[in-house]
Amino acid sequence: MPLFSQISLLFLLTGSEALTQRYDADSILTSQECCDAIRTEFASIVHGPASNDYSDRLSTYYSQQQHDYSPACYVKPKSTEDISKILKIAASHHCQFAVASGGHMAWAEASNTDDGFVFDLRDMNRIYISVERQTVSLGPGSKWISVYKAMDAHNLTVPGARMSDVGVGGFLAGGGYPFTSKTPGFGANSVFNYEVVLSDGTIVEANADSHSDLFWALKLAGTNYGIITRFDMNADASTEIWGAVGLYPSTEQTRTEIFPAYEEYSHRNDNTDLFISVGHLKAMGRPEKPMSPVEPVIYNEKTGQRNEVIHDPIDSLLQTPSRTAWFTLTIKVSTKLFLDFGKKAADVFALLEDAPGFSTMLGFQPFPKKFIEGNRGSPVYNTMKESDEDLTRELVQKEARNLDLLVNFTYLNYANKDQPVYEQSLTPEDLARMLRIRDKYDPSAIFRTLWKGGYKLPETPTARDEL
Ligand SMILES: Cc1cc2nc3c(=O)[nH]c(=O)nc-3n(C[C@H](O)[C@H](O)[C@H](O)COP(=O)(O)OP(=O)(O)OC[C@H]3O[C@@H](n4cnc5c(N)ncnc54)[C@H](O)[C@@H]3O)c2cc1C
Ligand SMILES: *[C@@H]1O[C@H](CO)[C@@H](O)[C@H](O)[C@H]1NC(C)=O
Ligand SMILES: *[C@@H]1O[C@H](CO)[C@@H](O)[C@H](O)[C@H]1NC(C)=O
Repeated sequence: MPLFSQISLLFLLTGSEALTQRYDADSILTSQECCDAIRTEFASIVHGPASNDYSDRLSTYYSQQQHDYSPACYVKPKSTEDISKILKIAASHHCQFAVASGGHMAWAEASNTDDGFVFDLRDMNRIYISVERQTVSLGPGSKWISVYKAMDAHNLTVPGARMSDVGVGGFLAGGGYPFTSKTPGFGANSVFNYEVVLSDGTIVEANADSHSDLFWALKLAGTNYGIITRFDMNADASTEIWGAVGLYPSTEQTRTEIFPAYEEYSHRNDNTDLFISVGHLKAMGRPEKPMSPVEPVIYNEKTGQRNEVIHDPIDSLLQTPSRTAWFTLTIKVSTKLFLDFGKKAADVFALLEDAPGFSTMLGFQPFPKKFIEGNRGSPVYNTMKESDEDLTRELVQKEARNLDLLVNFTYLNYANKDQPVYEQSLTPEDLARMLRIRDKYDPSAIFRTLWKGGYKLPETPTARDEL
């Protein structure tokens, strides 16, 4: 019997989404039976709730919300072929699953689930560096700190995440806003080839010459196209870098000094080596004696190899949270808005200052024009380009809209669960193209039916002004 065909009643079991096409599973197993079915062929990599591997994987999720799930098992493949075979088993028995690399997407069920099993990609963590070609091939399961350490030894680097424990897989599947980059644009723009397992288990290499439509779509892959098993990236030469974290008391004076400087910085196009983020953070600790308003509460800088600078001072910036929620939007660069938001954040955060265990942060990060131009090969390019401005992201949407400073771009990796990332980040034409490519590579809607979590393309294109 063919593994996949068009008719099925299964769709009725999976709920509300109006799938245009369905597929027919051989049988429907419970989550536990699914784990057992995978175990018959892959005994050593299926880990049930009583195992150490299971609790070890759970402990790597960044947020408590993600930690709260209990999948029937974690399946920890060692190779692309494993993933291909397991996907076939899952599809033929209608087994739902999630996919976890670094586990840093914060919202509930982004990469964990109660309704099935989870692909734990941490053993897909190869880092293969070609010094001669100046390229690196990365498995999705590595943490960025391991990538930087390996590459620092060769004075090479790639545009990856700015904190140690973020995973390669999720970061690059959402674009990837880098720490430093000689190649402008999201980290995904340095990927010149993807190895990806499609919903029917086929293993495909997608690049500019082969499956070029898929290559383009994967730069904003989400959980729509396949499980990416290898990212081949162009590397940059790199030796030492400088990095600093400075925390200042939020006063009228600091705000009016920092934000105009930040506006100016956001318009500079010669700063591709370095992205400055400014933000507002609830006090991490109070100074013991009064100090001048512009004396930093914390100032930590370092010059050294990338992995050292990220490990300290950068990692110290965000405490590991328990429950956490992120929300993002994109605005034109405006000191007025920065100041308004900085002031509002200070007021709101002051109210929460004494709430035990509660902390807040408002962050601005620039997308200079050169960065936007670097995204030419990506689905986000036409939207980012539309406003023809240097952009930034922050927290409060309404005021930006009122001032006509809101922009049609919602960065996937910083968004909350219910933000319509694809609808807001793509032109209607590019969204339609993304949908056509999805339907070409997953014609039976297997991923839409079985793959839980992450960001999905909408069923049909929705106009941005209707959102
Ligand atoms: C402390 C911290 C620092 C951060 N710093 C940055 C930063 O500097 N720049 C930035 O852009 N973002 C940053 N982020 C956001 C981060 O990029 C996203 O949370 C990203 O999704 C995390 O990837 P992951 O592999 O760790 O997460 P996961 O939760 O494992 O995965 C995230 C999503 O990607 C999917 N996915 C994972 N692997 C694959 C794969 N191989 N194929 C297909 N889909 C896959 C998952 O199913 C899930 O939907 C940061 C987040 C945190 C918590
Ligand atoms: C990397 O650069 C440093 C500093 O310039 C140099 O001392 C070192 O030899 C280089 N390492 C390699 C492997 O080229
Ligand atoms: C955002 O999208 C809407 C609807 O497509 C459009 O009318 C508007 O001009 C866009 N905004 C910008 C800043 O390009």
